[in-house]
Amino acid sequence: MPKIHVLDHPLIQHKVTYIRDINTGTKEFRELVDEVATLMAYEITRNLPLTQKEIETPIGKGMSGVLAGKKLGIVPILRAGLGMVEGILNLIPAAKVGHVGLYRDPETLQPVEYYVKLPSDVSERELILVDPMLATGGSAIDAVHALKKRGAKNIRFMCLIAAPEGVKAMTDAHPDVDIYTAALDEKLDEKGYIIPGLGDAGDRLFGTK
Ligand code: PRP
Ligand code: URA
Repeated sequence: MPKIHVLDHPLIQHKVTYIRDINTGTKEFRELVDEVATLMAYEITRNLPLTQKEIETPIGKGMSGVLAGKKLGIVPILRAGLGMVEGILNLIPAAKVGHVGLYRDPETLQPVEYYVKLPSDVSERELILVDPMLATGGSAIDAVHALKKRGAKNIRFMCLIAAPEGVKAMTDAHPDVDIYTAALDEKLDEKGYIIPGLGDAGDRLFGTK
């Protein structure tokens, strides 16, 4: 069974509160999303395997941990997922970045795929799929299908805000994908927006409304 992890670190919660605020403008919104993505990446990488390496300090020799060479990949769902990439790369600069382009048809709420470009060794990578919002779950579910179709085996999904409807749909469709979110909100409205959520993530990030 996939697990839903609500990352309740106080700094994450504090920043998400300001991300949600209607009075937070585009510049500040972008900066906060970037910062929260870094903090979330810090939390979700806490189980990365380490290997011991011989070191020599000015005082003497010893052993110390280094990352055990796990290959990571970050895959934003376009467009709003882009806002989380730099924040993760701050911590994991060697990660490769793929892209999945999807938008949600405003009438049907169904995702429409328009672009997929992934690292060539995607099947060997541990992937973090990122999108600020998990609403109906349609976009994330299709994005995971797009990754699996191209060989991905190890996928985690990271978002800022999830709705229970999206968590259930994602859990049913992809029981192997763990979900990491900063907040699990109440429900969706009749247009598929998360209540209270933060509004339209792409529009707020790119100033398109
Ligand atoms: C938003 C958001 C997710 C999707 C979530 O993108 O960034 O990708 O909606 O909704 P769902 O869980 O119901 O599929 P949108 O479709 O607005 O596209 P955009 O990023 O291009 O603005
Ligand atoms: N997409 C968004 O950007 N916001 C929502 O609340 C739901 C889907």
